[in-house]
Amino acid sequence: MNTKAGIVGVGSYVPKNIISNFDLEKIMDTSDEWIKTRTGIRERRIVDENEATSDLATKAALNAIKDANLTPEDIDLIIVATITPDMIFPSTACLVQANIKATKAACFDLEAACSGFIYGITVAKQFIESDAYKHVLVIGAEALSRILDYEDRSTAILFGDGAGAVVMGPVSEGGVLSTSLGSDGNGKDYLNIPAGGSKTPASEDSIKNRLHFIKMAGNDVFKFAVRIMQDASVECIESANLEIQDIDYLIPHQANIRIIEASAKRLKLSMDKVYVNLDKYGNMSAASIPVALDEAYREGKIKKGDNIVLVGFGGGLTWGASVVRWSI
Ligand code: UT7
Repeated sequence: MNTKAGIVGVGSYVPKNIISNFDLEKIMDTSDEWIKTRTGIRERRIVDENEATSDLATKAALNAIKDANLTPEDIDLIIVATITPDMIFPSTACLVQANIKATKAACFDLEAACSGFIYGITVAKQFIESDAYKHVLVIGAEALSRILDYEDRSTAILFGDGAGAVVMGPVSEGGVLSTSLGSDGNGKDYLNIPAGGSKTPASEDSIKNRLHFIKMAGNDVFKFAVRIMQDASVECIESANLEIQDIDYLIPHQANIRIIEASAKRLKLSMDKVYVNLDKYGNMSAASIPVALDEAYREGKIKKGDNIVLVGFGGGLTWGASVVRWSI
């Protein structure tokens, strides 16, 4: 029989420090009212000075491995989806491997911005279903507060830090029924960090011009997001041979409540089937979907046999969706 890949354990971790909209009011020209009504965000978590992405990823990973009733030595591959690696290299996945002592695992980072977790589970599925690896740890982890410009109110209010992880492995029932990925590099200027790579290495000028921080064309990303959340969801539901009525729960990327509500409306899915936690965490890029998945699972919102759609979009531009029939 052909091997089927599914999620066999899930976990997450968010840092302790809470920054509310009222805290932001004190350092920039914004208001709790504006942030709440335009985005749905009330507060976000941020790392302290001694924490980095790998620390958050490590805690989420250990929670997911425990949930799967496995040990770190059972892990064959670690994929960390992130745009805030601890360093350019080595990969954050290697740092997590050392922390958790997953001595048998191969490791790499995957960069598809906020779609990174969906890309990650898609890659893991291929390794498991080709019988190359048995257990793959997929982590979405970000310390976005490290790349935010607190002089730019249009981005600084949106993002937060956190990590979510799943262990994927062979399942006898359900599993990842379909995935659908896409990219459009022509949208590279909509969302990026201009400097710090080989094109514009760090220099006095790059620092003076604040080029090491996130830049975003918010309105363009907004329009793209609403369209692509619908298109990607429909594509992966169809390729799973399902219809929208068969979907029990939607776990969308947590960027903006208005994007989520508009997408749900277009999909004709009522909001009680849609998980939202961006009020507590803001947008955690690659970590948003796995943290939401973990919380939805712990709150009993998803049960064995449920058909769940995971869907996200982000810098690149990139997008991805997946139908998962819950197997635990
Ligand atoms: O993971 C993917 C990443 N990104 C996204 O998904 C973001 C997608 N985009 C968005 O969520 C929205 O476009 C934003 C939340 C970023 C902006 O909301 P908007 O409703 O599109 O606002 P806007 O950019 O059109 O700005 C409206 C007004 C402007 O003032 P004027 O020109 O009308 O006087 C802005 O200067 O709001 C002003 N503004 C703010 N005011 C208070 C922008 N940011 C703020 C702020 N506080 N933080």
